[in-house]
Amino acid sequence: MKLQEKDEKGLWAKLKGYSINEKGHLALRGVDLVHLASLSDRPLYVFDELALRENLCLYKEALKLFYPKPASIFYASKAFLNLAMGSLLKQEEVGIDVCSEGELFIAQKANILPQDIIMHGNNKSEKELTAAIKYGIKRIIVDNFDELTLLEKVTSELKRECSVLLRINPEVEVETHKYIATAVKESKFGFYRDQNRIPEYLQKVCTRGFIKFKGIHFHLGSNIHKASFYEEAIDKAGEYLAFLKDKGFCVEELNIGGGLGIAYEDHDPVPDIHHFVKVLCEKLILTCKKKNIDLPHLMLEPGRSIVGQAGCTLYNIGAIKEGGEAVHYAAVNGGMTDNLRIALYQAKYTGVLANKMTSSEKKRPYKIVGKCCETGDVLIENIQLPPCVAGDVFVVFSTGAYTHSLASNYNKHPLPGIVFVREGAYDYVSREQSLEDLISFDRIPPHLLDTSDTFLDKDE
Ligand SMILES: Cc1ncc(COP(=O)(O)O)c(C=O)c1O
Repeated sequence: MKLQEKDEKGLWAKLKGYSINEKGHLALRGVDLVHLASLSDRPLYVFDELALRENLCLYKEALKLFYPKPASIFYASKAFLNLAMGSLLKQEEVGIDVCSEGELFIAQKANILPQDIIMHGNNKSEKELTAAIKYGIKRIIVDNFDELTLLEKVTSELKRECSVLLRINPEVEVETHKYIATAVKESKFGFYRDQNRIPEYLQKVCTRGFIKFKGIHFHLGSNIHKASFYEEAIDKAGEYLAFLKDKGFCVEELNIGGGLGIAYEDHDPVPDIHHFVKVLCEKLILTCKKKNIDLPHLMLEPGRSIVGQAGCTLYNIGAIKEGGEAVHYAAVNGGMTDNLRIALYQAKYTGVLANKMTSSEKKRPYKIVGKCCETGDVLIENIQLPPCVAGDVFVVFSTGAYTHSLASNYNKHPLPGIVFVREGAYDYVSREQSLEDLISFDRIPPHLLDTSDTFLDKDE
């Protein structure tokens, strides 16, 4: 099929794994999405297991092809993590980047080996550092001087070594939403390059014993579509590597973060992971040659580009408000609780009615809204759909990254379940939250206990 025809059909035709089945329903890897939506009256996150594996392989293969020295992938688990995802990473022999005790805990529970884990965070606590060092994770990416001091304390108390990368801010103004641009001039993340204290301080903590310096890290931000920003950052990192070499440091590793953008709307290009890795590798090889420095072990931390397009969210349409000349509203059974990105970053999405893929009815514009008590609870501002009725199944594409991980129980909506699909089969990998889950953390102090014969008591 030519790309243009695919564009006309919409985003689903450009993404992996989607097809229309004999019922005229949208299917993912042959699993009928209308059927999946009928399993619950709440939204459902669906991930294509094959696409997850393929995306990881694309990174691994491209690194093998374009980088002559060792290179590793550490999936950025903040994009999406549960036990099944952790187990899939382990099967695919890909490492994981964690940035909290919680993410580390899940990685451990998924049996990910310490040498496959690296830890981030701009304000790691002593407890988090202790847990990471006790487990013996591969690298801690140090964000600031205070963290180095804390790390020195923790390692010497535990009498355990730990290897570190320093997070450097290369100050590259990328094109993305400002909330997810992480290497801008006054970012809260990382050391500033002009902090000349770094070599001296590093020398001190390293000679005192337990901290081993391995190299540097940068992360430009997220949902970045132009490789040229990475070229600019690699130039700056190259200067810094040369500077550290001059100061007598042996820089073995360079971690250039994640950030590759994905397709969210019909007209968006689907990212070419292979090409992206090629550009980065070529630039790094050239830069190291120019600066006369050895090629470092290269590390990447992709998140969104692994899981984003591999996921979709299924909703049921409920109330419809025909607006006449005004807006037609179609409300779904979820919203900002399962996808905060729209309210947070004005993110744009597209979707289809999964049960009306072959409809010939004239399309009309709808504003798709959620069911939360906020005017900003909008999923899609304006989308052309066949006339909607209650019970239609609305699928939003490319929702695999930063949706489940940003989800909330606002209005006390239980979190949706998560399903992984394989060829013709599916598995629940996280159950939907129950109403009981919503109060499972709550405790009533004795003086607030209601001892009267309540309605609920009578029910039991
Ligand atoms: C340090 C770090 N590495 C990697 C990532 C993953 O970025 P993305 O999901 O855009 O690939 C992030 C996310 O912002 C991050 O903060």
